[in-house]
Amino acid sequence: MLKIAVLVSGSGTNLQAIIDRIEDGTVKNAAIQIVISNNPKAYALERARQHDIKAVCISPKQFESRDAFNHALLDEIDRANVDLIVLAGFMVVVPAMIIEKYRNKIINIHPSLIPSFCGQGYYGLHVHEAALKKGVKVSGATVHFVDEGTDTGPIIMQKAVEVKNDDTPQTLQRRIMEQAEWIIMPKVIDAIAAGRVSVKDGIAKIEEE
Ligand code: GAR
Repeated sequence: MLKIAVLVSGSGTNLQAIIDRIEDGTVKNAAIQIVISNNPKAYALERARQHDIKAVCISPKQFESRDAFNHALLDEIDRANVDLIVLAGFMVVVPAMIIEKYRNKIINIHPSLIPSFCGQGYYGLHVHEAALKKGVKVSGATVHFVDEGTDTGPIIMQKAVEVKNDDTPQTLQRRIMEQAEWIIMPKVIDAIAAGRVSVKDGIAKIEEE
């Protein structure tokens, strides 16, 4: 059984997609042990509790220093004894000591086709604003392993989504969530749980079922 920690900051629709696909059996051999948010108001915490999943808030504001926050976050993850950390709209830079300790065990969902519209400053609606400003006709979502850079780790799965002429950042965000994010994140978790994901020389590959 793949034990998972999901880290969130906001509404938690990606968390919900993971919960739903585990509950309906599409994602096999996986269980969410804990949901951690940096934001006490994150609706994602409520979603976790509604499904009897342990939900905790660890906010940088509760600590004297960033270092103290980072250690508290690592301690909570360690205590949960997980095999995989899923960043599902987690708007905090994951500290290097966590990345080192959980190398190739942290995955993130990013709402564009990396390497487009990613890196520092590209999060949430900003990503879709940038895509519309550039006039791209296709965008999408990417699930990747997390390394020390911002959105630079090995790409595991991507899905393209059409951009429409009358899109706003909000309509594009919603379509990318519905047609890509909520589909590929559970798929990647299922593949990891089945031992079908490998990384070699910085390239991730999924073995066919
Ligand atoms: C999602 O669109 C996710 O891809 C994005 O934040 C949103 C969270 O929504 N993540 C990033 O921009 C990371 N750079 P959710 O809380 O409803 O899952």
